[in-house]
Amino acid sequence: MCGIVGYVGRRPCRDLLINGLQKLEYRGYDSAGISLLADGRIDTVRAVGNLANLRAAVGLDVEGGDGAVAVAAPPATIGLGHTRWATHGRVTEQNAHPHGDCSDDVHIVLNGIVENHSELRAQLTSEGHIFSSETDAEIVAHLIEKHYSGDLTAAVRQAFADLRGHYAFAAMHADHPDTLVAARQECPLIVGIGAEETFIASAIPAFLAETRIALAIENGEIVTVTPGEAQVTDAEGNPVERESDEVLWDDEAAEKGGYATFMRKEMAEQPDAVAETIADRLSASDRVDLGQVEAALTPEFVASIDRIVIVACGTSYHAGLVGRYAIEQWARVPVEMDIASEYRYRDPVVSPNDLVIGITQSGETADTLAAMRLARERGAKVLALTNIMGSQATRDADAVLFTRAGLEIGVAATKTFTCQVAAMYLIGLWLAGLRGTLSDDRLAELIAEMKALPHKIQETLDSVEDRVKAVARAEHRGRFFLYLGRNIGLPICLEGALKMKEISYIPSDAYAAGEMKHGPIALLDDSTPVVCIATDSPILDKVLSNMEEVRARGADVIAIATHGQEKVRDASDLVIEVPATDWVLQPILAVLPLQLLAYHVARMLGLNVDQPRNLAKTVTVE
Ligand code: AGP
Repeated sequence: MCGIVGYVGRRPCRDLLINGLQKLEYRGYDSAGISLLADGRIDTVRAVGNLANLRAAVGLDVEGGDGAVAVAAPPATIGLGHTRWATHGRVTEQNAHPHGDCSDDVHIVLNGIVENHSELRAQLTSEGHIFSSETDAEIVAHLIEKHYSGDLTAAVRQAFADLRGHYAFAAMHADHPDTLVAARQECPLIVGIGAEETFIASAIPAFLAETRIALAIENGEIVTVTPGEAQVTDAEGNPVERESDEVLWDDEAAEKGGYATFMRKEMAEQPDAVAETIADRLSASDRVDLGQVEAALTPEFVASIDRIVIVACGTSYHAGLVGRYAIEQWARVPVEMDIASEYRYRDPVVSPNDLVIGITQSGETADTLAAMRLARERGAKVLALTNIMGSQATRDADAVLFTRAGLEIGVAATKTFTCQVAAMYLIGLWLAGLRGTLSDDRLAELIAEMKALPHKIQETLDSVEDRVKAVARAEHRGRFFLYLGRNIGLPICLEGALKMKEISYIPSDAYAAGEMKHGPIALLDDSTPVVCIATDSPILDKVLSNMEEVRARGADVIAIATHGQEKVRDASDLVIEVPATDWVLQPILAVLPLQLLAYHVARMLGLNVDQPRNLAKTVTVE
């Protein structure tokens, strides 16, 4: 998840671009850059690290403030900017955007992933193009160069047709000082229209301080912007009529992308975040490609694995639990799951044929790091699953798999959780592919189902919120919430209860439904809301009979069910449906109404959901 911004107008735009990037830094901040076009020449400055380094590189904060590109005379009134969250290519100045073509006449910035970048790079290289970075994104600059014969929009359209993946990009050409062209395939792209000036950006906050007129760009569309104008066309070149809207957000709302809180904004980012996390790892239809991980965890090692141990804390622990069910189901490897603060002090028995997976979104959680180090010292191979490039976890592991959720500001983890679950599914299918424990058809079927998840996540977020709000209205004064589930539904109950505890402070518990009659059923009375994960699975009937047990004690049963599953209706007081998918993948959808329930209960209680009491986003203390 990177941030892109572009400007064409009458004002010097260096500062406008950098201020825009500042507002997009939550999307990525391991490196950044700007390109400015003046006098037929494009000047570029890139810097590794967060935006402060780029500001210093362009001399913005230095007395007199006239760094490298600042001295272009006349000052540039067209340019591109980018803040990066590396996916392809290391965090280096060379790999930072903007990227140029062979003659630096075309410059581009891109957010997302070009899945067919290897074959395009090979083809362009065979045609004589010279690449200066390791990134997938640079491909786009060379493709535009290849197709360019005077019409920038036409060249972008042809390049767009060659690309596969999940991205949004903007392009600039030295011969066109009054034009930027951008295109969208899944990743967000928005245009800001001002008086004789136009902005292109990944999100509205990048230009909201300058204009409140925004034009949304839809999937498969290309937009050509000139000062104060924007022309939208489809992939075939047909004009698309679209009304712009006035954005009424205040600055605080702007920082939250128009949402009331960071947590709600981050929940809304889940479709994109999961899409980015799986995109290039599922570019083939018959196998999972984990890239760098495969260098450290060789097929020989994978074949020799006797046991997998997952260590993590809090929400990451719950993602690990979902992963355990998926890995055992698909790859038939025994998986042990342990809370990191327990694992590190129980003198664990570790063997060289163990794969230990440490899950930590921040990459800095002390107990998880210590558990990973201990396992490694005792001879296990360690795979870190983290969301943060350069975090300590990346140094305490033999291999690293990154989720691509972007920065998560809300203390209560949401998008990092669904990305972790998606990543655990990738690991499960990758292991199954290498160990031959799934038929080719079944593997291809599951890969196809995974590729459909981002849309189903969007569909769920769009369809369940009103029903969830109704439950929150009815239950937010409750004294206790109970969550029940079985098998792969249980980790989602644990996560739902944790979210409710962390942000609403209402005592909440999660239980394996089969355990109810062994004690917790005593907690129930007619005021207890019981949330049951009753999505389709081989043990749904078992869950339904537990729901009957609960209802017999007068408690309200709120069931999360698979769309169209009638029999759940009879065993519950209220049903919240999520789209159907493979039963092992269902948890990534079933958690969404639980995130929203905790969120709306806490909001109705007037609580600060972004900064709950007693909690920190990253727990670096032991
Ligand atoms: C989850 O909402 C909490 N913020 C907390 O439980 C968190 O998951 C835990 O501290 C682990 O953090 P990590 O993923 O950064 O290691």
